[in-house]
Amino acid sequence: MFDKKQLFVVLTLTSASALGAACGDDTGAGPTPVTDAGDAGDAAAPEAGPASLCVDGKPAVAYPPAPHAVDIARTLPPLELVGEGGATVKLADYFEPCAPKAKVLVVRAMAAWCGPCLWNADNTKSVLDRTTVASQLRVLDLLVADEDNLPPDAAALTRYKARVGADVTVALDPAFTFRPAQTSALPLPVYYFVDVRTMQVLSSISDPAPETLASRLLVELALLDGLPRPPLPRVAVDDGFSENQWGLLRAMTLPGAPPPDPTNEYADDPGAAALGKQLFFDTALSPNAVACSTCHDPAKELGDGVAQSLGVAKVDRNSPNIALSSHARWQFWDGRAENLWTQALGPPEDSKEIGSTRLYIAHQIAQRYQAAYDAVFTKYPLPDLSDAARFPATGKPGDAAWQGMTAADQDAVTRIYVNMGKAIAAFERTFRVKPNALDRYIAGDRAALAPAAKEGLASFFKSGCHQCHWGPRLTNDAFHVLRFPTGKQDGTADRGRADGVAKLLGAELHLGTKWSDAQKPVRPFVELSPPPPSMVGAFKTPTLRGLPKSGPYGHGGRFTTLAEVAKHYGDRGLEPNDPRAAGTVEPWVPNFDTSEQARLPAFLDVLTGEPEPIN
Ligand code: HEC
Ligand code: HEC
Repeated sequence: MFDKKQLFVVLTLTSASALGAACGDDTGAGPTPVTDAGDAGDAAAPEAGPASLCVDGKPAVAYPPAPHAVDIARTLPPLELVGEGGATVKLADYFEPCAPKAKVLVVRAMAAWCGPCLWNADNTKSVLDRTTVASQLRVLDLLVADEDNLPPDAAALTRYKARVGADVTVALDPAFTFRPAQTSALPLPVYYFVDVRTMQVLSSISDPAPETLASRLLVELALLDGLPRPPLPRVAVDDGFSENQWGLLRAMTLPGAPPPDPTNEYADDPGAAALGKQLFFDTALSPNAVACSTCHDPAKELGDGVAQSLGVAKVDRNSPNIALSSHARWQFWDGRAENLWTQALGPPEDSKEIGSTRLYIAHQIAQRYQAAYDAVFTKYPLPDLSDAARFPATGKPGDAAWQGMTAADQDAVTRIYVNMGKAIAAFERTFRVKPNALDRYIAGDRAALAPAAKEGLASFFKSGCHQCHWGPRLTNDAFHVLRFPTGKQDGTADRGRADGVAKLLGAELHLGTKWSDAQKPVRPFVELSPPPPSMVGAFKTPTLRGLPKSGPYGHGGRFTTLAEVAKHYGDRGLEPNDPRAAGTVEPWVPNFDTSEQARLPAFLDVLTGEPEPIN
């Protein structure tokens, strides 16, 4: 009779599918995978280690052939991924059929936009060492997306590596190859445990508490070595939240001053802010009597409270409250502006919003703000615009009046227009919001959140909201497809970021031009033309500071209550065939039951963002 090892070798020589069976394929008697129980701890685990691929101390095969995709309880296919500096990271290199002791390869699916992923990258080093099994452990991080949620490139990998440190190998995985080995749709990061002696995926776990992660490692190793199963971990909680959750909570503290803006040398000039304040509220900069404040009203938390904003005409999107926009990496729902002053150059010339032109505005500024303007922009004194033949009353690029001007005169007018944007941005940078109940809770007041709000917060973590809504403003400033309903008047889907990138690429006034005050004008994004399909229907994650008054919610302003938003997430967005949304909901967005949906609003309700009085 053959013993197990001999039988195995015979099988490898006959057929690959039979090998699959020996490796614990669905068709064979493989070990039972540990199901992904999240923070709840370890559920069922493999009863015994799988058959070895080692005979007489030597590998029996170069790499177990695996003619199928990555999946739980199956042998990994011999993937080759792009690592640091373009090096190839081969899964085959992790295959150690003759390892004397059990050894586990921990593969982590990470995204650079994802809060808990970054927490894990920063904080799990000691956890992985603490297990005292470092020699029985290898860690491979697969980056599935960059900070903006684009397919990651070499530069994104380098940034990520700098964060995670030397001990971890990193590679690009824009296709999220390991996704099928996830036992349910749970938040990133996802940890996959692989037995290096068989290259079989043993189990996966999503966003674990550090104790759960350490324990899972010990369990997998013990089971592979045929040792008794270690006890379940005791996850330390403080007021119901684990160490990793507190880490994220502490990072949600109210932001202070916005980051510096080297592209606007007037960004923190009080004179510019004072001028910007007047311009922000000035309806006379438009022949249609619309100002920024028409849609960003301090009495309405710097929003307008309606589903879709009304300027000269109704626009297709909801007006965000802009109290904290000076902190954002991108402006607008589709990120079609790179920063605050370039954003401010959009609405004035938009025919539906303010409906003015840069010539009209330049004349207004020359007539009514000359002293204030000249006092701030000493480098660029206002030119004499009185010659109506050279400087028509109104006009912008594309208009006949504008096209008839000399290039030098056009530049002189555009300079005034750009400086208007920089002054308004300086004003917007002075906005601050008042602390809310979450801030008080984080600061140590355990009674600041009512029990229902704490349950809602627990649900916020459990439902994976913290992946995207993290940090001081509870946003990652990245673009995601969630199939929220369109705000377009004709009911068709809004393509979001896909069109936003196209607009950025075609923009006249952007950060790569002479209008930027940076030493070296550069655009802060990798130029992508055409934008990848993953950006169709993607929108920028909004800040949650300002709820519940920032409603109606979503880019189209179609949800009037936070309960509707929670239900939308629970349903994983509008149905794929619903014409009111474009794109495919991202794989890490979990769906969850109605009881979870019911808990969320009590937490969302405390996330107020009342602006400090504007001075
Ligand atoms: C007609 C109403 C309206 C007017 C007037 C208007 N806005 Fe807006 N604002 C909006 C809407 C709607 C959006 C979102 C549009 C989008 O993303 O496509 C927006 C977006 C913004 C954003 C980006 C916020 C974010 O989180 O992405 C800023 C900043 C902003 N506006 C400032 C201004 C300034 C400054 C002015 C005046 C120069 C102005 N707005 C005029 C309605 C308006
Ligand atoms: C994958 C990233 C991601 C995850 C996960 C996520 N969000 Fe969002 N959130 C977004 C984006 C992007 C939008 C804007 C969507 C749109 O309008 O198309 C948004 C919009 C919202 C809004 C509307 C805010 C406003 O002012 O209009 C709320 C409320 C919200 N999310 C709460 C949640 C909750 C609760 C969860 C967990 C169930 C969650 N989000 C999970 C990215 C995310």
